[in-house]
Amino acid sequence: MTFQQLAQKRYSVRSYSDQPVSDEQLNYVLECARIAPSAVNFQPWHFYIARTDEALEKVRQTYPRDWFATAPIVIVGCIRHDQSWHRPTDQKDHGDIDIAIATEHICLAAAEQGLGTCWVCNFDASLCHQLLNLPAEEEAAVLIPIGHLAADAAPRPTTRKPMEEIITEI
Ligand SMILES: Cc1cc2nc3c(=O)[nH]c(=O)nc-3n(C[C@H](O)[C@H](O)[C@H](O)COP(=O)(O)O)c2cc1C
Repeated sequence: MTFQQLAQKRYSVRSYSDQPVSDEQLNYVLECARIAPSAVNFQPWHFYIARTDEALEKVRQTYPRDWFATAPIVIVGCIRHDQSWHRPTDQKDHGDIDIAIATEHICLAAAEQGLGTCWVCNFDASLCHQLLNLPAEEEAAVLIPIGHLAADAAPRPTTRKPMEEIITEI
């Protein structure tokens, strides 16, 4: 599979089967997050793995959607703001960019393994912080449900902007 084929294969999966994700597969995708690039190589991230009933129940409260509750595992991607690079010229915090790269590594690695994922940012981040007892310097930035696809899992029709709209030669 070429990289472009992998990028095309990945889509937001919003229906998961009961089939468990093996430790081997989970470790594979987490390793792909671990080796992601980050600003100044500060690696300002922390990933919490929710896969017990107790942990999943907490995470599901922060994004109460029927489809989300079908995922057997949810990875909570957090930014460590005390470890992220702040650009000296304007203090821009690059933690958002770093967590996004690592998260997409997870999503692409999962797709390569035949697993489904979906970026979820429309969750209650402060409730998540509270329920998971996160340290003050950590921000819950993204939830990543991960699992095998249910029989009815199908991509929603999506479009992308044409090349000429997003590329400008300068
Ligand atoms: C930063 C980010 C946040 C997103 N948050 C959500 C979300 O909260 N809930 C959801 O169902 N999908 C969410 N998505 C998925 C997008 O809706 C989806 O990627 C987009 O519509 C393109 O569809 P595709 O992923 O199937 O190609 C998010 C995606 C990104 C990149």
